Amino acid sequence: MIYLNGNFLPIEQAYIPVLDRGFIFGDGVYEVIPVYSRRAFRLAHHLARLQDSLDGIRLKNPYTNDEWCSLITQLIDFHESEDQYIYLHITRGVAKRDHAFPINVQPTVFMMSNPLLTPPKELLQKGVLAITAEDNRWGRCDIKAISLLPNVLLRQLAIDAGATETILLRNGFLTEGAASNIFVVKDHTLYAPPKSHLMLPGITYDVVLELAQDHTLPYSVRPVTEQELRTADEILLTSSTKEIMPIISLDGKLIGQGSPGPFFFKLNELYQRYKTLTMRNKPASNS
Ligand code: PDD
Repeated sequence: MIYLNGNFLPIEQAYIPVLDRGFIFGDGVYEVIPVYSRRAFRLAHHLARLQDSLDGIRLKNPYTNDEWCSLITQLIDFHESEDQYIYLHITRGVAKRDHAFPINVQPTVFMMSNPLLTPPKELLQKGVLAITAEDNRWGRCDIKAISLLPNVLLRQLAIDAGATETILLRNGFLTEGAASNIFVVKDHTLYAPPKSHLMLPGITYDVVLELAQDHTLPYSVRPVTEQELRTADEILLTSSTKEIMPIISLDGKLIGQGSPGPFFFKLNELYQRYKTLTMRNKPASNS
C-alpha cells in the first residue's frame, strides 16, 4: 500500500494527473526516512528538515508533525519488512502550466515504503570506489528538492565508471556526494564540510558527528579542500539508506592502504549500536 492525498491504496491504483507541478516543473520536495525494527529512525529530524525544504520552496506544510507521525506509522504497519525506508514526496499540486505559483491549489502528497537493504557486510569489509566531478548543481542544495536531474547525471558518471558514488567539488572544495554526504579522515582526525546552501544537511551526517563528539573521536567541521580529499587516509560516505560506507579508491587511485580504515570500523560499530539502542528505547510511532 502507498499513501496518496488522504488515501492508502495499492501502488497499481495510484495515479496523478499529468499537470502535477512535480511532473511538469519538478516543483516539490521529498524525504527518505529509514525504519528499523518497524520504527522510523530520527523522525523528528527528518520532519524538521522537511519543514525547512518546504519553507525553502514557499510551500505550506500540509500536515502537522502528529499527523505525519500517524500516517507514517500506518504506512509502516502495511508492510511486512522489519526494516524499511519511507519515501515521502510533496509537490505544489495540479494546475494549468504556468511558472507562477497557482492560487488555492492543494499540494500532492505521496508516500511509499520499501524494504531497507543496507550494504552487505562483505562490501563494508572491502570498501567501494568513487570518482570526482565538478559540482554543477544550483545554489540551494540544502533544499531536498525532487528536481534531481543534476544529481542523476552526476551519479550516473560513477555507475558508468564502475564506481559507487560521485564526489562533488566546487571551486576546489568538497561539497558532498551525488546522493550522500562525504567525510574525510586525515592524521587521526575526521573532517566534515560545514553545512551551507551548497550541500544537503544529512541526518546521517548529524548522527556521525554526534557519535564522534560523544565518544571523543577527534573531529573538525571545516571546509575540506580537493587536495585534502585526494590525500585522505580514509573517505567515508553517509546516507539514510547506505548508512556509513568506506571509500577505498578515488578516480582510480587508492585511498590510504586501499582498504577500510579504523575510523570507518569504529564509527560503523557506534552507528549500529546507536541504531539498536534508540530503536529499543522508543515508542513505535515517535522520534
Ligand atoms: N539521499 N546529500 C544528498 C545529495 C543526498 O541525496 C542524500 C541522501 C544525502 C544524505 O542525507 P541523509 O543522511 O539525510 O540520507 C546527502 C537520499 C537517501 C535519496 O535521495 O535517496
